[in-house]
Amino acid sequence: MLHQSAQPFNEAQKMIARALYEDGQTDRQIADVCSTSVNNIIWWRKEEGLPENLSREAQARAAEEAWTPPVARKPRAAAKRSPVNVTQVTSDPRIVSPEAAQAAYVAPVQPDGDNAIEIGMHMDAKVYVDLAEMLTTRLLIQGNSGSGKTHLLRRLLEECAGIVQQIVVDPEGDFVSFGEAFGHTIVEAKDHTSARLAKIAGRARELRGSVVLSLEGMEIEQQMDAVTVFLNALFAAGPEHWHPAIVAVDEAHLFAPSMDNGEDKETRKECRSAMANLMCRGRKRGLAGIIATQRLAKLHKSVAAEASNFLMGRTFMDIDIARAADLLGMSRADSEQVRNLSRGEFIGLGPAIARRAMRVKIGPVITHGKAGDEKGITPLPTMRPEDMQAALLADDEDEGERPVRHLRAVN
Ligand SMILES: Nc1ncnc2c1ncn2[C@@H]1O[C@H](COP(=O)(O)OP(=O)(O)O)[C@@H](O)[C@H]1O
Ligand SMILES: [Mg+2]
Repeated sequence: MLHQSAQPFNEAQKMIARALYEDGQTDRQIADVCSTSVNNIIWWRKEEGLPENLSREAQARAAEEAWTPPVARKPRAAAKRSPVNVTQVTSDPRIVSPEAAQAAYVAPVQPDGDNAIEIGMHMDAKVYVDLAEMLTTRLLIQGNSGSGKTHLLRRLLEECAGIVQQIVVDPEGDFVSFGEAFGHTIVEAKDHTSARLAKIAGRARELRGSVVLSLEGMEIEQQMDAVTVFLNALFAAGPEHWHPAIVAVDEAHLFAPSMDNGEDKETRKECRSAMANLMCRGRKRGLAGIIATQRLAKLHKSVAAEASNFLMGRTFMDIDIARAADLLGMSRADSEQVRNLSRGEFIGLGPAIARRAMRVKIGPVITHGKAGDEKGITPLPTMRPEDMQAALLADDEDEGERPVRHLRAVN
């Protein structure tokens, strides 16, 4: 708190002070010339409603404090490649930006050229997957339903379509749009015999063509059979055809379940072993498994354990979080983060992503699944209840053609 000092400060001094002030002199300089205290000058200035004149150094200091770097978020198309920057933002070597400190800590990969698959953002920096590294170390994606696994898989595959051969095992027909967008051959498994599926897989190996194996519209056991035949045929190709190819399997727990879900035992065993082959022994043959699953607990251990790269999405069950922590060698605190992730956010770790767990917000995609984007809550039709009831119960022309089987009454 400032108090007016006992030193005199009369009208004549005030006039001199005014002239000096207008000349840009600081409080201290004015006080010296007027032979009075700095406090008197400050009081006088406040009474007059005049802001403080700062010295040149003080001005520079204030300007520096007031300056904040502009936020640099550009749309994807216009963005220039700028890998996570670990250099200092100021000339003072002791000052490192929070982004640079984070980047240095998580140690993300810094791939170049075609090897750099941009998947999203970590804070304000782009996140890449090192393609060559991923081809030899495989990738496991885990996240509860709706966490954004298929979106992530789509982004990854879109970014390296045309760079590396892709075989997509697609249980729901989510990737058939890759036919139009990138020229992938769409194989509707239900339209082909096993022998033909095996032949197609063999040719894909020879010709290095990208394929989407759509399993839509099939029973689970048929799906398993198709996957077994296709993967085994990819595997059986001769060494002259061992070129690098991504084999992406969405909902991998369907094909390598950890539990008996009531499928035929033999079918399950064979499919699981084809999946395990892909993940364990595919590397030598150039086959790089990328698998996505809802729950680690549902996926057979022999398949999950072979991936060295992980992208963990939102997960709620303790057992899955514990398994994830186990697989990733994550600390308990790090693994707890997966509860708080939002849709489209993943924690990435592994030789093709980053050396320490790094949070990634997955970027946009250009192709769409069959259903398009989720609609969320849309308004219900404004039909009167009696009209709705009449419409639902309306007589159809084919009514009566097939007798309705009545439920048996319980005695
Ligand atoms: N990173 C993201 N950015 C924008 N939308 C996303 C993102 N990730 C997921 N979504 C949207 O969220 C919904 C669920 O994602 P999806 O990939 O189908 O989840 P999952 O396969 O894990 O069940 C989809 O409508 C998808 O478009
Ligand atoms: Mg999905």
